[in-house]
Amino acid sequence: MAAKIISGTEIAKEIREELKKEVENLKEKYGITPGLVTILVGENPASISYVTAKQKTSKNLGFYSIQDNQPEDISEENLLELIDKYNNDPSIHGILVQLPLPKHINESKILYAIDPKKDVDGFHPVNIGKLMIGEADYLPCTPAGIQQMLIRTGVKTEGAEVVVVGRSNIVGKPIANILIQKQEGANATVTVCHTRTKNMEEHTRRADILIVAAGKPKAVTADMVKEGAVVIDVGVNRIGKTESGKAKLCGDVDFEAVKEKAGAITPVPGGVGPMTITMLMMNTVKAAKNAGE
Ligand code: GUN
Repeated sequence: MAAKIISGTEIAKEIREELKKEVENLKEKYGITPGLVTILVGENPASISYVTAKQKTSKNLGFYSIQDNQPEDISEENLLELIDKYNNDPSIHGILVQLPLPKHINESKILYAIDPKKDVDGFHPVNIGKLMIGEADYLPCTPAGIQQMLIRTGVKTEGAEVVVVGRSNIVGKPIANILIQKQEGANATVTVCHTRTKNMEEHTRRADILIVAAGKPKAVTADMVKEGAVVIDVGVNRIGKTESGKAKLCGDVDFEAVKEKAGAITPVPGGVGPMTITMLMMNTVKAAKNAGE
């Protein structure tokens, strides 16, 4: 039987409706308008498309939002000064520096400079540390989106065998940490596979929930998936252009074959992507609320 398709687009829409009401309430009752700045360095086409989507969504939700574009050759010092400016700007509750940054800039140094209270990406070591001990203020957006998708689709994580393919700081490591927490929507048994894992398919075939963030098209094929498994595809691979000139995307999972075997699967596009942006909005609303307390 073909898998249920988990629509990130639909779930994200539902959450955005909830957020919109929350923003109205914050404005009316407390006079607070959530403020978000997205900083883009250079002109990487994928990064431009991500920040454009983030800006559009934040405006739709009624945020005060700024797109701050900086040239590719901005110095590290000037970028740090810019972050400092927004750290001290009370109308800004969330600061997002789009990654990757040009080679001459030390990415860690930039991420460390963001005030953890305004770190709506959840990348600052303070926030990563809090996540590890189950006291997160801001979860990184992609893993938070995955967890919400599982919760809102009614996928039980408690006691489930979760296998994560990929160990990046943005997805693999944090989603593994989120799902092992002794918390509702977690309590899973998690295995993390990566490029040095031996016999990867032996692990993936055990998964009740398989989360794939490998950064490689068709990294997961049907023979690697257990019958009835829930498959979350985090991959965004650009494989040419559509007729209208837009980037053509595919995930890390062989969707057509795996959907015949899985119990549920997320598509690309329309799966994890819209959830990531929505979680950024959720974190920004949270940051605005926290600033008002
Ligand atoms: N580049 C790819 N994903 C992300 C993300 O979630 N946040 C930021 N800031 N940059 C990214």
